[in-house]
Amino acid sequence: MTEIEIKKGLAGVYVDYTAVSKVNPETNSLLYRGYPVQELAATQPFEAVAYLLWYGELPTDEQLADFTAEERANRALEDNVRQAIDLVPLDAHPMDVLRTAVSLVGASDPAAFDNSRESDLVKSRRLFAKLPAMVAYDQRRRHGLGIVDPREDLDYAQNFLWMTFGDVPDPVVARAFNVSMILYAEHSFNASTFTARVITSTTADLYSAVVGAIGALKGPLHGGANEAVMHIFDEIGSASNVGPWLDTALAEKRKIMGFGHRVYKNGDSRVPTMKAALDTLVEHYSAEGDTAVELAALYDALESEFVSRKGIYPNLDYPSGPAYNLMGFDTLTFTPLFVASRITGWTAHIMEQAASNALIRPLSAYNGPDERHIEGYVPDVAATADRPAEAAG
Ligand code: COA
Repeated sequence: MTEIEIKKGLAGVYVDYTAVSKVNPETNSLLYRGYPVQELAATQPFEAVAYLLWYGELPTDEQLADFTAEERANRALEDNVRQAIDLVPLDAHPMDVLRTAVSLVGASDPAAFDNSRESDLVKSRRLFAKLPAMVAYDQRRRHGLGIVDPREDLDYAQNFLWMTFGDVPDPVVARAFNVSMILYAEHSFNASTFTARVITSTTADLYSAVVGAIGALKGPLHGGANEAVMHIFDEIGSASNVGPWLDTALAEKRKIMGFGHRVYKNGDSRVPTMKAALDTLVEHYSAEGDTAVELAALYDALESEFVSRKGIYPNLDYPSGPAYNLMGFDTLTFTPLFVASRITGWTAHIMEQAASNALIRPLSAYNGPDERHIEGYVPDVAATADRPAEAAG
């Protein structure tokens, strides 16, 4: 028998083409539809990047005006979605809240089964517009606060922060938030995007694919890492405790959250841009007390100690976790923020998969027990003679 080579975790396996983004670990670059993500983060509102991911080109001024007008008009939560969120226990994980809310939006859409590109674009734009209200409302209800209605005079980033905190944000904060949304938007065939593509490949609807992707993103080895970064910061406490904490964590063979990446092995291309945004936030919030400066010191100490000991570099979740913390988001809200951004990349991939579909169904090499039989069982030859062929699974 020939030896079967198993590629655990599909590591290093190319499964399809994509024109949505290009991750190049050799040059440490990430392109969305050809544009370096750093250039987009420096020059564009998140709304324009969403447009680029879906339509392949940056919008003209007129296209952006139409696109943002529609987004602003669709921000409010429908009553049934708000009621469904209220039914989810307050101690449930906010990713479970989003999974439930998006599922309900899908179940309420009479066009859910229309998998045409036109219909999927409408659904994508709708989810893009609605997700901030879901995320913001869920954080508020966990604090016993009521919903804050969206404001059409604010852009996406400003309005997201407004709906969460009830204040119009300082431009420094809104800019850093906009940068984080752009950096999280798309990253080729990561686990959640691949999940969405697998579901789309069965010709199931876009909402089902997005709900599956939310489930995949929840895990700490993927999106849940930004949340896990804050948990380890809480555990460590202060910069002076980094060395002893790391001794124990490494002796226990723990994974240090926010470090390492399946594709990038010499540093994540998005980190310098997010770290620069974090620096602006530290400066901004240092006027309010020592917390921001202490957080920055812990950040630097853990990074330099871990990189010098293991040679493993931070990924995007490392600077974004502390950035969201400084802005005032609960740690539990971090991964839902990732969803609000990645909805753009997921849906771009869903439409790409649907446009050139092949059912994704890999093979497995069986390593269970050899064929065996139930003791005393005698097959009924007459009953099985005309049995139809088994359906493919
Ligand atoms: N902390 C400690 N050790 C780590 C590490 C981390 N964050 N990331 C990788 N390593 C070590 C592994 O233990 C392994 O060591 P070994 O060869 O002695 O067993 C080696 O580096 C290779 O790691 P591996 O898990 O095989 O790499 P991968 O490509 O499968 O995993 C991640 C990539 C992202 C899953 C992994 O780096 C990780 O778990 N990081 C923490 C979670 C995280 O931040 N996820 C967000 C990703 S954007």
